[in-house]
Amino acid sequence: MSQLKKPVILLFLTIISATHASPGEVHDIVDYGARPDRPRFDSSDSLIRAWAAACESTGSPTVSVPAGDFLVHRATFAGPCKSSKITVRIGGTLVAPSGYGGESWIVFDNVEGLLVYGGTIDGRGGALWACKAAGGRHCPAGATSLKIMNSKDVVLSGLTSVNSERFHVVIHGCEHVTVHGVRISAAGNSPNTDGIHVQMSTDVIITGASIRTGDDCVSIGPGTTNLWIEQVACGPGHGISIGSLGKEYEEKGVENVTVKTTVFTGTENGLRIKTWGRPSQGFVKGVVFENSIMQNVHNPIIIDQNYCPDHRGCPGKNSGVRISEVTYSDIHGSSATPVAVNFDCSASNPCTGIGLQNIKLTYGGAAAESCCKHADGEASGLVVPPSCL
Ligand SMILES: *[C@@H]1O[C@H](CO)[C@@H](O)[C@H](O)[C@H]1NC(C)=O
Repeated sequence: MSQLKKPVILLFLTIISATHASPGEVHDIVDYGARPDRPRFDSSDSLIRAWAAACESTGSPTVSVPAGDFLVHRATFAGPCKSSKITVRIGGTLVAPSGYGGESWIVFDNVEGLLVYGGTIDGRGGALWACKAAGGRHCPAGATSLKIMNSKDVVLSGLTSVNSERFHVVIHGCEHVTVHGVRISAAGNSPNTDGIHVQMSTDVIITGASIRTGDDCVSIGPGTTNLWIEQVACGPGHGISIGSLGKEYEEKGVENVTVKTTVFTGTENGLRIKTWGRPSQGFVKGVVFENSIMQNVHNPIIIDQNYCPDHRGCPGKNSGVRISEVTYSDIHGSSATPVAVNFDCSASNPCTGIGLQNIKLTYGGAAAESCCKHADGEASGLVVPPSCL
């Protein structure tokens, strides 16, 4: 069985078992007082009370959000729950208050065995983006639209997330999370609107996503292990990024990441690893980038170990993050700049075990260039631009 089929079949079984196998009770938020299509009526309370009832159930309960727009000021779905088979089925749209400005909007915390299915969440980030664009120093950082934290065995399927204030979906401190068939969109110039951010989590699968934002498509933070990303379309935005890493000295590494069958359209980066240029115990080990199409991407393949925004705390220092065993294979398409492959590694901790195989990246119809600093590895097969390893 191919490695894609396994998670997809597992996902399918999870959906079947969570929605059909045992006829669990349904908690419709309208029965708890929620009111659709009333732009000023806050349905948060009803949502939370429907969740509390589901969380107390020992069967296979469903929290149901029917069709319509529901204004939700803030919702934390907290566990632990008695059931490990809870479904949250979203038919309509959950709408954030404009100018919300908190840290996270919808949160699942400490839940084991959860399926969140369908629906749309609208973070209404426009007001905050405008505040930031006007150079407002007093703008809040902005809210993550959906945060799944400290949880286990979670499936997020078929969700649409639009216009988050900041990150759309964050997975933090989790185990066994599958994100399938999500669609994410925000304006191409909206600040910090990352699509999916994974951090301090293990065994996360992201498949079949379409992500158009103003920042990273998928960003991978410290402490991420066994991450599988497959069939993801990115752009506009900043591409798929491992990092930024190494901001802290004491930092968990990133290990065993596969990124396969991706399409990048007009993004700033394609496949990126990015670390701060300062001392750190962090590391990146065992990454496979496979089968990508680049369409007019500024930096299709890039390792940047000299990240130092505002030149504070790092000038003259080298990144302590050790990058090893990173392979790129079957990466084709066009670069929007002459340097299509750029390995700018740390002078004190050079990149090792970098592999390039079957690469063809062009710039304006001709071959692009590659550039290596402190990078060691091997190229095989057809590699255009020619390898500098
Ligand atoms: C790497 O991660 C994948 C899932 O993404 C998993 O199937 C595999 O067993 C992991 N490999 C190791 C050595 O842990």
